[in-house]
Amino acid sequence: MANAKPDFSLQGARVLVTGASLGIGRAVALAAAAAGAVVVLAARGQPGLDAVANEIVAAGGHAEVLPFDAGDPAAIRAAIAAAGPLDGLVNNAGSVTREPFLEASEGEIDRILTLNVKGAALVAQAVAQGMVATGRGGSIVNIASIAGLVGARNRSIYAASKHAVMGLTRAMALELAPHGIRVNAVCPGLVNTPLAADLMADAGFVAAMRARIPLGRIMEPQDIAGPAVFLLGAAASGITGIALPVDGGVTAE
Ligand SMILES: NC(=O)c1ccc[n+]([C@@H]2O[C@H](COP(=O)([O-])OP(=O)(O)OC[C@H]3O[C@@H](n4cnc5c(N)ncnc54)[C@H](O)[C@@H]3O)[C@@H](O)[C@H]2O)c1
Repeated sequence: MANAKPDFSLQGARVLVTGASLGIGRAVALAAAAAGAVVVLAARGQPGLDAVANEIVAAGGHAEVLPFDAGDPAAIRAAIAAAGPLDGLVNNAGSVTREPFLEASEGEIDRILTLNVKGAALVAQAVAQGMVATGRGGSIVNIASIAGLVGARNRSIYAASKHAVMGLTRAMALELAPHGIRVNAVCPGLVNTPLAADLMADAGFVAAMRARIPLGRIMEPQDIAGPAVFLLGAAASGITGIALPVDGGVTAE
Protein backbone atom coordinates (compact mmCIF):
# COMPACT_ATOMS: atom_id res chain seq x y z
CA MET A 1 0.00 0.00 0.00
CA ALA A 2 3.07 2.27 0.03
CA ASN A 3 2.09 4.17 -3.15
CA ALA A 4 -1.70 3.95 -2.79
CA LYS A 5 -2.20 7.62 -1.90
CA PRO A 6 -2.58 9.86 -4.99
CA ASP A 7 -0.22 12.84 -5.04
CA PHE A 8 -2.29 16.03 -5.23
CA SER A 9 0.56 18.13 -3.80
CA LEU A 10 2.45 20.80 -5.73
CA GLN A 11 5.25 20.89 -3.13
CA GLY A 12 8.53 21.96 -4.72
CA ALA A 13 6.93 23.24 -7.96
CA ARG A 14 7.21 26.78 -9.36
CA VAL A 15 3.96 27.68 -11.13
CA LEU A 16 3.22 30.80 -13.19
CA VAL A 17 -0.42 31.94 -13.20
CA THR A 18 -1.38 34.69 -15.67
CA GLY A 19 -4.36 36.92 -14.97
CA ALA A 20 -3.78 36.18 -11.29
CA SER A 21 -5.11 39.42 -9.80
CA LEU A 22 -8.84 38.64 -10.16
CA GLY A 23 -11.45 35.97 -10.72
CA ILE A 24 -10.38 32.51 -11.84
CA GLY A 25 -6.64 33.29 -11.90
CA ARG A 26 -6.68 34.57 -8.32
CA ALA A 27 -8.54 31.45 -7.12
CA VAL A 28 -6.15 29.15 -9.00
CA ALA A 29 -3.13 30.99 -7.56
CA LEU A 30 -4.45 30.71 -3.98
CA ALA A 31 -5.19 26.99 -4.47
CA ALA A 32 -1.81 26.23 -6.07
CA ALA A 33 -0.04 27.97 -3.17
CA ALA A 34 -2.19 26.04 -0.66
CA ALA A 35 -1.09 22.84 -2.45
CA GLY A 36 2.54 23.82 -1.79
CA ALA A 37 3.67 25.55 -5.00
CA VAL A 38 5.73 28.71 -5.19
CA VAL A 39 3.33 30.77 -7.31
CA VAL A 40 4.55 33.44 -9.73
CA LEU A 41 1.63 35.85 -10.08
CA ALA A 42 1.23 37.70 -13.39
CA ALA A 43 -1.21 40.35 -14.64
CA ARG A 44 -0.76 43.91 -15.87
CA GLY A 45 -1.08 45.81 -12.59
CA GLN A 46 1.30 45.46 -9.64
CA PRO A 47 -1.21 46.52 -6.90
CA GLY A 48 -3.71 43.74 -7.67
CA LEU A 49 -0.90 41.18 -7.74
CA ASP A 50 0.57 42.45 -4.47
CA ALA A 51 -2.84 41.98 -2.81
CA VAL A 52 -3.03 38.33 -3.92
CA ALA A 53 0.62 37.75 -2.93
CA ASN A 54 -0.14 39.14 0.54
CA GLU A 55 -3.11 36.76 0.88
CA ILE A 56 -0.89 33.80 -0.06
CA VAL A 57 1.89 34.79 2.33
CA ALA A 58 -0.63 35.42 5.16
CA ALA A 59 -1.87 31.84 4.66
CA GLY A 60 1.71 30.52 4.97
CA GLY A 61 2.39 30.13 1.23
CA HIS A 62 5.01 31.45 -1.17
CA ALA A 63 4.36 33.96 -3.97
CA GLU A 64 6.31 36.20 -6.34
CA VAL A 65 4.90 39.02 -8.42
CA LEU A 66 5.65 39.48 -12.13
CA PRO A 67 3.58 42.23 -13.79
CA PHE A 68 3.37 42.10 -17.59
CA ASP A 69 0.85 42.52 -20.40
CA ALA A 70 -0.03 39.07 -21.76
CA GLY A 71 -1.04 40.66 -25.06
CA ASP A 72 2.40 42.24 -25.69
CA PRO A 73 4.97 39.88 -27.31
CA ALA A 74 8.07 41.79 -26.17
CA ALA A 75 6.75 42.10 -22.61
CA ILE A 76 5.95 38.36 -22.55
CA ARG A 77 9.45 37.36 -23.64
CA ALA A 78 11.15 39.65 -21.13
CA ALA A 79 8.91 38.60 -18.23
CA ILE A 80 9.20 34.85 -18.79
CA ALA A 81 12.98 35.16 -19.11
CA ALA A 82 12.95 36.94 -15.73
CA ALA A 83 10.60 34.37 -14.12
CA GLY A 84 13.29 31.72 -13.68
CA PRO A 85 12.71 27.97 -14.17
CA LEU A 86 9.04 26.94 -14.06
CA ASP A 87 7.39 23.55 -13.52
CA GLY A 88 3.86 24.68 -14.25
CA LEU A 89 1.84 27.33 -16.10
CA VAL A 90 -1.81 28.24 -15.79
CA ASN A 91 -2.41 30.24 -18.96
CA ASN A 92 -5.47 32.12 -17.77
CA ALA A 93 -5.28 35.80 -18.82
CA GLY A 94 -8.09 36.46 -21.25
CA SER A 95 -10.98 38.67 -22.11
CA VAL A 96 -14.43 38.39 -23.65
CA THR A 97 -16.44 40.28 -26.23
CA ARG A 98 -20.19 39.94 -26.50
CA GLU A 99 -21.81 41.16 -29.70
CA PRO A 100 -23.93 39.65 -32.47
CA PHE A 101 -21.72 38.15 -35.19
CA LEU A 102 -23.22 40.53 -37.80
CA GLU A 103 -21.96 43.47 -35.72
CA ALA A 104 -18.56 42.14 -34.59
CA SER A 105 -16.09 44.97 -35.04
CA GLU A 106 -12.56 44.64 -36.41
CA GLY A 107 -11.20 46.33 -33.28
CA GLU A 108 -12.79 43.75 -30.98
CA ILE A 109 -11.65 40.89 -33.22
CA ASP A 110 -8.06 42.17 -32.97
CA ARG A 111 -8.30 42.75 -29.20
CA ILE A 112 -9.66 39.29 -28.40
CA LEU A 113 -7.44 37.32 -30.78
CA THR A 114 -4.34 39.25 -29.68
CA LEU A 115 -4.84 38.40 -25.99
CA ASN A 116 -6.70 35.07 -26.01
CA VAL A 117 -4.84 33.40 -28.89
CA LYS A 118 -1.58 35.16 -29.75
CA GLY A 119 -0.77 36.08 -26.16
CA ALA A 120 -1.70 32.63 -24.82
CA ALA A 121 0.43 30.95 -27.51
CA LEU A 122 3.45 33.17 -26.87
CA VAL A 123 3.26 32.75 -23.08
CA ALA A 124 2.97 28.95 -23.43
CA GLN A 125 5.79 28.87 -25.99
CA ALA A 126 8.18 30.88 -23.82
CA VAL A 127 7.37 28.76 -20.74
CA ALA A 128 7.68 25.48 -22.69
CA GLN A 129 11.05 26.58 -24.14
CA GLY A 130 12.26 27.11 -20.57
CA MET A 131 10.90 23.70 -19.48
CA VAL A 132 12.71 21.99 -22.37
CA ALA A 133 15.93 23.82 -21.42
CA THR A 134 15.76 22.62 -17.80
CA GLY A 135 14.92 19.06 -18.93
CA ARG A 136 12.58 18.59 -15.95
CA GLY A 137 9.35 18.50 -17.96
CA GLY A 138 6.28 20.28 -16.66
CA SER A 139 2.55 20.82 -16.87
CA ILE A 140 0.66 23.53 -18.74
CA VAL A 141 -3.02 24.23 -18.12
CA ASN A 142 -4.74 26.50 -20.61
CA ILE A 143 -7.96 28.10 -19.37
CA ALA A 144 -10.24 27.78 -22.40
CA SER A 145 -14.06 27.78 -22.07
CA ILE A 146 -17.06 25.67 -23.00
CA ALA A 147 -17.16 28.26 -25.84
CA GLY A 148 -14.05 26.38 -27.03
CA LEU A 149 -16.09 23.17 -27.33
CA VAL A 150 -19.46 24.34 -28.63
CA GLY A 151 -20.85 27.51 -30.20
CA ALA A 152 -21.95 30.51 -28.17
CA ARG A 153 -24.59 32.98 -29.34
CA ASN A 154 -23.40 36.61 -29.43
CA ARG A 155 -19.85 35.51 -28.59
CA SER A 156 -18.65 34.30 -31.99
CA ILE A 157 -15.25 35.98 -31.76
CA TYR A 158 -14.72 34.77 -28.18
CA ALA A 159 -15.78 31.24 -29.25
CA ALA A 160 -13.33 31.41 -32.17
CA SER A 161 -10.55 32.41 -29.77
CA LYS A 162 -11.32 29.59 -27.32
CA HIS A 163 -11.62 26.97 -30.11
CA ALA A 164 -8.13 28.18 -31.09
CA VAL A 165 -6.94 27.61 -27.51
CA MET A 166 -8.24 24.02 -27.76
CA GLY A 167 -6.35 23.47 -31.02
CA LEU A 168 -3.24 24.92 -29.41
CA THR A 169 -3.70 22.65 -26.38
CA ARG A 170 -4.02 19.45 -28.42
CA ALA A 171 -1.16 20.26 -30.82
CA MET A 172 1.14 21.37 -27.97
CA ALA A 173 0.31 18.16 -26.08
CA LEU A 174 1.46 16.09 -29.06
CA GLU A 175 4.65 18.08 -29.70
CA LEU A 176 5.72 18.50 -26.09
CA ALA A 177 4.99 14.98 -24.80
CA PRO A 178 8.50 13.76 -25.77
CA HIS A 179 9.87 16.47 -23.44
CA GLY A 180 7.76 15.29 -20.50
CA ILE A 181 5.53 18.35 -20.73
CA ARG A 182 1.78 17.73 -20.37
CA VAL A 183 -0.68 20.24 -21.83
CA ASN A 184 -4.37 20.28 -20.93
CA ALA A 185 -7.30 22.68 -20.97
CA VAL A 186 -9.90 23.50 -18.36
CA CYS A 187 -13.14 24.66 -20.00
CA PRO A 188 -15.28 26.65 -17.56
CA GLY A 189 -18.94 27.39 -18.10
CA LEU A 190 -20.24 30.70 -16.73
CA VAL A 191 -18.17 31.69 -13.67
CA ASN A 192 -19.00 34.47 -11.20
CA THR A 193 -15.99 36.78 -11.80
CA PRO A 194 -15.49 40.47 -12.67
CA LEU A 195 -15.43 39.42 -16.36
CA ALA A 196 -19.05 38.25 -16.01
CA ALA A 197 -20.17 41.04 -13.64
CA ASP A 198 -22.61 42.59 -16.13
CA LEU A 199 -24.30 39.21 -16.71
CA MET A 200 -24.40 38.39 -12.98
CA ALA A 201 -26.12 41.74 -12.30
CA ASP A 202 -29.09 40.68 -14.47
CA ALA A 203 -31.40 38.69 -12.16
CA GLY A 204 -33.47 37.34 -15.07
CA PHE A 205 -30.35 36.08 -16.82
CA VAL A 206 -29.02 34.45 -13.64
CA ALA A 207 -32.34 32.65 -13.02
CA ALA A 208 -32.46 31.41 -16.63
CA MET A 209 -28.84 30.18 -16.40
CA ARG A 210 -29.50 28.33 -13.13
CA ALA A 211 -32.46 26.59 -14.74
CA ARG A 212 -30.22 25.47 -17.64
CA ILE A 213 -27.34 24.16 -15.52
CA PRO A 214 -27.87 20.53 -14.36
CA LEU A 215 -26.15 21.20 -11.00
CA GLY A 216 -28.45 24.23 -10.59
CA ARG A 217 -25.81 26.86 -9.88
CA ILE A 218 -23.38 29.18 -11.62
CA MET A 219 -19.73 28.24 -11.08
CA GLU A 220 -17.57 30.13 -8.57
CA PRO A 221 -13.82 30.74 -9.17
CA GLN A 222 -12.92 28.01 -6.62
CA ASP A 223 -14.77 25.47 -8.79
CA ILE A 224 -12.10 26.01 -11.46
CA ALA A 225 -9.15 26.03 -9.03
CA GLY A 226 -9.33 22.37 -7.95
CA PRO A 227 -9.39 20.92 -11.48
CA ALA A 228 -6.50 23.24 -12.52
CA VAL A 229 -4.37 22.21 -9.53
CA PHE A 230 -5.15 18.54 -10.21
CA LEU A 231 -4.02 18.83 -13.84
CA LEU A 232 -0.81 20.63 -12.77
CA GLY A 233 0.28 17.88 -10.40
CA ALA A 234 1.51 14.30 -10.30
CA ALA A 235 -1.97 12.83 -9.75
CA ALA A 236 -2.64 13.74 -13.41
CA SER A 237 0.68 12.41 -14.74
CA GLY A 238 -1.05 10.25 -17.37
CA ILE A 239 -3.26 13.04 -18.72
CA THR A 240 -2.35 15.21 -21.69
CA GLY A 241 -4.29 16.88 -24.50
CA ILE A 242 -7.68 16.85 -22.77
CA ALA A 243 -10.48 19.38 -22.40
CA LEU A 244 -11.94 19.25 -18.89
CA PRO A 245 -15.31 21.03 -18.77
CA VAL A 246 -16.18 22.61 -15.41
CA ASP A 247 -19.69 23.77 -16.19
CA GLY A 248 -22.13 22.16 -13.77
CA GLY A 249 -23.06 19.66 -16.50
CA VAL A 250 -24.11 22.05 -19.28
CA THR A 251 -22.13 20.29 -22.02
CA ALA A 252 -23.40 16.86 -20.93
CA GLU A 253 -26.64 17.66 -22.77
N1 LIG B 1 -15.88 34.18 -16.14
C1 LIG B 1 -16.36 33.27 -16.96
O1 LIG B 1 -17.58 33.04 -17.04
C2 LIG B 1 -15.42 32.46 -17.82
C3 LIG B 1 -15.93 31.34 -18.49
C4 LIG B 1 -15.10 30.58 -19.28
C5 LIG B 1 -13.77 30.92 -19.42
N2 LIG B 1 -13.27 32.02 -18.78
C6 LIG B 1 -11.87 32.34 -19.00
O2 LIG B 1 -11.18 32.37 -17.79
C7 LIG B 1 -10.10 33.30 -17.86
C8 LIG B 1 -10.15 34.26 -16.69
O3 LIG B 1 -11.41 34.89 -16.72
P1 LIG B 1 -12.04 35.66 -15.45
O4 LIG B 1 -13.50 35.51 -15.59
O5 LIG B 1 -11.35 35.26 -14.21
O6 LIG B 1 -11.64 37.14 -15.88
P2 LIG B 1 -11.42 38.47 -15.00
O7 LIG B 1 -11.64 39.61 -15.93
O8 LIG B 1 -12.23 38.38 -13.77
O9 LIG B 1 -9.88 38.35 -14.68
C9 LIG B 1 -8.99 38.37 -15.78
C10 LIG B 1 -7.58 38.41 -15.31
O10 LIG B 1 -6.75 38.52 -16.47
C11 LIG B 1 -5.96 39.67 -16.34
N3 LIG B 1 -5.73 40.25 -17.66
C12 LIG B 1 -6.66 40.74 -18.52
N4 LIG B 1 -6.03 41.23 -19.59
C13 LIG B 1 -4.69 41.02 -19.41
C14 LIG B 1 -3.53 41.33 -20.16
N5 LIG B 1 -3.59 41.95 -21.35
N6 LIG B 1 -2.32 40.96 -19.65
C15 LIG B 1 -2.23 40.35 -18.46
N7 LIG B 1 -3.29 40.04 -17.70
C16 LIG B 1 -4.51 40.39 -18.17
C17 LIG B 1 -6.70 40.61 -15.42
O11 LIG B 1 -5.80 41.50 -14.80
C18 LIG B 1 -7.28 39.61 -14.43
O12 LIG B 1 -6.31 39.24 -13.48
C19 LIG B 1 -10.20 33.97 -19.22
O13 LIG B 1 -9.31 33.34 -20.13
C20 LIG B 1 -11.64 33.72 -19.62
O14 LIG B 1 -11.84 33.69 -21.01
C21 LIG B 1 -14.07 32.81 -17.98
